[in-house]
Amino acid sequence: MGRRIAGVIYILITFALVNEMSINVYARDNNKRRTKEKSGGFQKNICDITDRDSKVHCYCENTREPRNATKAECWVFNGGIPRDDLIWQSFASQPILQTLSFNVRVDGALGYIPTKALLYLQRLRSINIKYGNIVDVTPYSFANLTNLKEASLSQNQIENLQQYAFAHLPNITTLNLEENMIIDIDTEAFYDLPKLQKLVFTKNNISTIRNGTFQHTFNLLELDLNKNNIYHLNRRTFDGLANLRKLDLRKNRIQNLTEFTFAELWNLQELLLGKNDLRYISERAFDGLSQLRKLSLDDNKLASLPSGLFEGVRGLSSVDLRSNELHALTFDNIKPILDNLKPQNSNLLLEENNFVCDCRLKWMHSLRNETKSQNTKESLDSVTCKMDPPIVSSAYNKMPDAMDDKLDYNQDILHAGLTIETLNDKMNVTEKKTLPGDLSKDDANEISKKGVKRTVLKIPAETLPCPREAIKTTEIPPYIVDPVIPIQNEMKTFRFHDTNSAYMKLRPSFGSVVLWSISFRFFFT
Ligand SMILES: *[C@@H]1O[C@H](CO)[C@@H](O)[C@H](O)[C@H]1NC(C)=O
Ligand SMILES: *[C@@H]1O[C@H](CO)[C@@H](O)[C@H](O)[C@H]1NC(C)=O
Ligand SMILES: *[C@@H]1O[C@H](CO)[C@@H](O)[C@H](O)[C@H]1NC(C)=O
Ligand SMILES: *[C@@H]1O[C@H](CO)[C@@H](O)[C@H](O)[C@H]1NC(C)=O
Ligand SMILES: *[C@@H]1O[C@H](CO)[C@@H](O)[C@H](O)[C@H]1NC(C)=O
Ligand SMILES: *[C@@H]1O[C@H](CO)[C@@H](O)[C@H](O)[C@H]1NC(C)=O
Ligand SMILES: *[C@@H]1O[C@H](CO)[C@@H](O)[C@H](O)[C@H]1NC(C)=O
Ligand SMILES: *[C@@H]1O[C@H](CO)[C@@H](O)[C@H](O)[C@H]1NC(C)=O
Repeated sequence: MGRRIAGVIYILITFALVNEMSINVYARDNNKRRTKEKSGGFQKNICDITDRDSKVHCYCENTREPRNATKAECWVFNGGIPRDDLIWQSFASQPILQTLSFNVRVDGALGYIPTKALLYLQRLRSINIKYGNIVDVTPYSFANLTNLKEASLSQNQIENLQQYAFAHLPNITTLNLEENMIIDIDTEAFYDLPKLQKLVFTKNNISTIRNGTFQHTFNLLELDLNKNNIYHLNRRTFDGLANLRKLDLRKNRIQNLTEFTFAELWNLQELLLGKNDLRYISERAFDGLSQLRKLSLDDNKLASLPSGLFEGVRGLSSVDLRSNELHALTFDNIKPILDNLKPQNSNLLLEENNFVCDCRLKWMHSLRNETKSQNTKESLDSVTCKMDPPIVSSAYNKMPDAMDDKLDYNQDILHAGLTIETLNDKMNVTEKKTLPGDLSKDDANEISKKGVKRTVLKIPAETLPCPREAIKTTEIPPYIVDPVIPIQNEMKTFRFHDTNSAYMKLRPSFGSVVLWSISFRFFFT
């Protein structure tokens, strides 16, 4: 309180003095602008505006003296300020300002970047405009300022970045355009920005990026396009970004990644594609990314990966594939980067997929064993797969009853019976018989519909069934499944014989299968 009163007194005391100084400033700059300002160009000290009706008020750190402030925070209270209003010229009163911010306090009060003010601030290093309603960033908005290092225009309702919107700013390193509504970026919007390192477009409305948009930002290290509406990328989208280290494309609507999309980005280390709509990735989509260390593809709709996908990104040591629809991830997929996944700081995250329990997941056992990464271990420990009975029985040829070491003897047989039943459905065998045990038919149907979910690493690697190579899903599976492992055959024999009697009276061949499965269980527990 006391300070505030003192401040008011100070203002009153210095009012006359300031007026005098302002007149001096005006006099000094008069020659330059005589032709422009014909009428009443009384120039205020922007740091000491006492007029209550002023549309702009600034608080300057340390000083209210003219020509002495280095930092100013300005509030814009009233709308309708013309672009060439005298208030902007008043910034000439503080030509050594290095840091300037505008906080727009009234909706719609500032619809443009006040270039007319920036013109006088040749030492400016940082500008921040917030909560304005700037729709277009027009050519040379930042007045070719040679010392400007950072510009932030977050939350301003910007829709268009016009040609040369950001141009001739030889020292600019960071440009933040977060939370606007950018739809369109001219291909020459970024021009002659040789030191630009970081460009942020988080939370905008970008749906397409024109070819060559980034062709002039060749020193960019980080490009953030998180939370936009991008649905299409091609091999020209990222032209010019040869030095980029990090590209964030999370939360967009990308469905397809075509070949060589990132081919220009040969220094990229981190590529984030989580939370898109990815369904299809070309085998050569990541070609050229020889420096890539981290790739996130989580929360997409990938059902499989082309087998050579990681051939072109052999440096990869952190891969996030959680929450996709992967039914398999093969050793071929993972082989090019397998050794990178063993050190402590590596990551392979695979939870929440639709893996089918089969031998293509075998490598998970050995990686679990060999990796030093706690994250990878934990992730592998909780990866689940589905024992989809119809697929397993027709296209996979290993013992279905050796899968779960928690099943008891009775359930082993039941499970086998279940498999036979669904196999018969597939083969259009209509004959049905009651199987031994107490699992009701409804339960059985329920299990066969959903498939049984299991933890991959709890299934002994040796017992993961292998898919048969040449079977096409449209073909009816052969009646005799596989002569090498005669289980289905034997089950079938069992199936077609009278089973009113309990399993104790089974034919010797089936009994031996059951015994085999029991010994299996003992062996692995
Ligand atoms: C200008 O500011 C400097 C410190 O930034 C201060 O030492 C100096 O006294 C100020 N000059 C005037 C005229 O206020
Ligand atoms: C910035 O430079 C361009 C190109 O040299 C020029 O056309 C433009 O008038 C300059 N703008 C300012 C505000 O100096
Ligand atoms: C960039 O800024 C530094 C000081 O921050 C200055 O010395 C240099 O001249 C500026 N570069 C250009 C091209 O103006
Ligand atoms: C985003 O852009 C589309 C046109 O590309 C437009 O229809 C939509 O209204 C925009 N959304 C917002 C929030 O501005
Ligand atoms: C952008 O580049 C892609 C890939 O070369 C090309 O197919 C497409 O036609 C180009 N788009 C335009 C508008 O030039
Ligand atoms: C993605 O590819 C599929 C088939 O290859 C095509 O039908 C679809 O339209 C593509 N989506 C986009 C957004 O290009
Ligand atoms: C796990 O590692 C041990 C030695 O550390 C080895 O004996 C064992 O065979 C490995 N198991 C698998 C499944 O690779
Ligand atoms: C099963 O066989 C019957 C008669 O043989 C036939 O009408 C039916 O379409 C077949 N169903 C399937 C799924 O093949």
